[in-house]
Amino acid sequence: TKEGYPHFMIKEIHESPKAVKDTIEGFISEIDLIKEVADEIKNANRIIVIGAGTSYHAGLYFSLQLQRLGYTSIPIIASEYYNLKAKKGDIALAISQSGETIDVLQGIRKMKNEGAKIISLTNVIESAIARESDYKLYMKAGPEIGVAATKTFTTQLASLLFLTEVLQGGNINKLEKLHQEIRDTITKVEGITKRIGEKLSKKANIYYLGRGLSLPLAMEGALKIKEIAYVHAEAYPAGESKHGPISLVEKGFPVVIINDGELTDLLQNNLMEMKARGAEIYTVSVNKKMKDSDIEIYLESEFPAIVISPVIQLIAYYASVSKGYDPDKPRNLAKTVTVE
Ligand code: F6R
Repeated sequence: TKEGYPHFMIKEIHESPKAVKDTIEGFISEIDLIKEVADEIKNANRIIVIGAGTSYHAGLYFSLQLQRLGYTSIPIIASEYYNLKAKKGDIALAISQSGETIDVLQGIRKMKNEGAKIISLTNVIESAIARESDYKLYMKAGPEIGVAATKTFTTQLASLLFLTEVLQGGNINKLEKLHQEIRDTITKVEGITKRIGEKLSKKANIYYLGRGLSLPLAMEGALKIKEIAYVHAEAYPAGESKHGPISLVEKGFPVVIINDGELTDLLQNNLMEMKARGAEIYTVSVNKKMKDSDIEIYLESEFPAIVISPVIQLIAYYASVSKGYDPDKPRNLAKTVTVE
C-alpha cells in the first residue's frame, strides 16, 4: 500500500534511507564475500560493467570511478552487448534491480562463454541474473512498485561506493551514516524540488549537464524526467555541449547543471556560456556553490552522488505530478523488460 503517500514513487523515494541502511548493513555482514569480489576486481585484466537504463547509469558511475583508480573498466549498455568480446581474465559486473532484464542476461551469457567471470548486483534473491553469476551481491532495497527506479538507484550507488571503499582499503564505517544524509536531504529539498519540477514541467526540452562523476547523475536526471513527465531531456558532458548542443539554447531554455563539487570552476564556465544565450539555469551543487543560477540547490556530503540522487528524482516526480500524470505508471513502459 501507499501508506498515506499519493504515489508509490514518492513513498519509495522516502524509503531510500532505509533501503541504503539495510543494504550497507547487509554488505558489512557479508564483508568476506565483498573482499573476495574486490580481489577479483583487483586481479582482473578488465572490469566490464553492464546494465540497462538507470542501472546502466549506476554502472557508468562505478566504471568511471574504477578508471580513476587506474583500472581498465568498460561500461556497456546491456542491449549493445554484442560490441564487446570478453576474454579469460576479464570480470563482468552485471547491475540490475529486477535481476531479470533480458539484455543483461544475454550479455552475461555471452561474456561467460567467452571466459569472463560474472559478479551480479541485484535486488531480488536468486533472480535470473544472480543465478548465472559466480558472485551474487544483493541490495536490500525491498520491493519497488513505481516503474521508475528510485530507491534502488540510490542503493546501487551506495553498494558501489562500498565496493570502491573496500577496493581502496578505505573505511567502510563512514558509509553507515549515509542513510541519515539521504533523510536530511529529502527533508531539505522537498519544497525547492517541487518549485523546480513545476517550472521544468512547462518546458519542451531540457539539458542536463555534468562533468566527471556527475555526468551519470545528469544522465539519470534526464532519463527520469523524460520517462515520467514526458519532457524531452538530454544529458551532455558539460564541456561537450559547446560542440553542437548549445546552438539550441535561447531565451528561457532550461539547463540543469549537476555539480558534485569536483569540477565546479569548469562547470561555472559552462553555466556562463549557457546564461549568455538566455538559458534558465538550475544547479544542484554539493560542497561547492555555483554563481548566477536562477535556482540553486546546495548540499554538503562526503558522498555527493548519494544526496544528488533523491534530488533529481524529486524534481522529476514533481514535474510529472504538476502535469497531472501518474508517475507510477508511465506510458509505454514496463517495470521489467524481458524482450530484446
Ligand atoms: C528507469 C528504469 C529503467 C530500468 C531498466 C533496467 O527509471 O527503471 O531504465 O532501470 O529497465 O532495469 P533493471 O535494473 O531491473 O535491470
